[in-house]
Amino acid sequence: MVRSARNRITTVALASDHAGYAYKEKTAKFLSALGISYRDYGTFTPDPVDYPDVAHSAAIAVSDGTCRFGIFICGTGIGMSIVANKHRDVRAAACESTTAAELSRLHNNANVLCFGERLTSWPKAKKMILLFLNTNPEGGRHARRVRKIHILTSR
Ligand code: RB5
Repeated sequence: MVRSARNRITTVALASDHAGYAYKEKTAKFLSALGISYRDYGTFTPDPVDYPDVAHSAAIAVSDGTCRFGIFICGTGIGMSIVANKHRDVRAAACESTTAAELSRLHNNANVLCFGERLTSWPKAKKMILLFLNTNPEGGRHARRVRKIHILTSR
């Protein structure tokens, strides 16, 4: 069972567009088998949808604390991460390797893992999910840097 720092059961926001739908369904089963709770923000069929529509609603759930983590999947992971990072306190990492998934937690305190069904094998995706959910931020100098991420900037 994965628990948050406050020892609450962690809820994961799940989201995909059509290009990530098959992996999103697999991820839901994978999390269930591990006893990890999740909320599914869609999409709910393989029919084409626009990734921002799904990513925004799932990112809001992470931003407002409804879900501790997010796993967002599209064709590449890129579109989902761009959208998610528009939301306050969301730190989404588009990852293509297990190393990146682990470092996104250690150094960046990422709270949303994004990956691409078209770029990542399912065995590797499972490893990335496990590393992401089970790795704690390293703190120290990295915590200082993470705090600076959310300073608002002018255009
Ligand atoms: C959909 O064809 C594809 O563009 C989308 O899933 C994603 O890869 C965008 O970043």
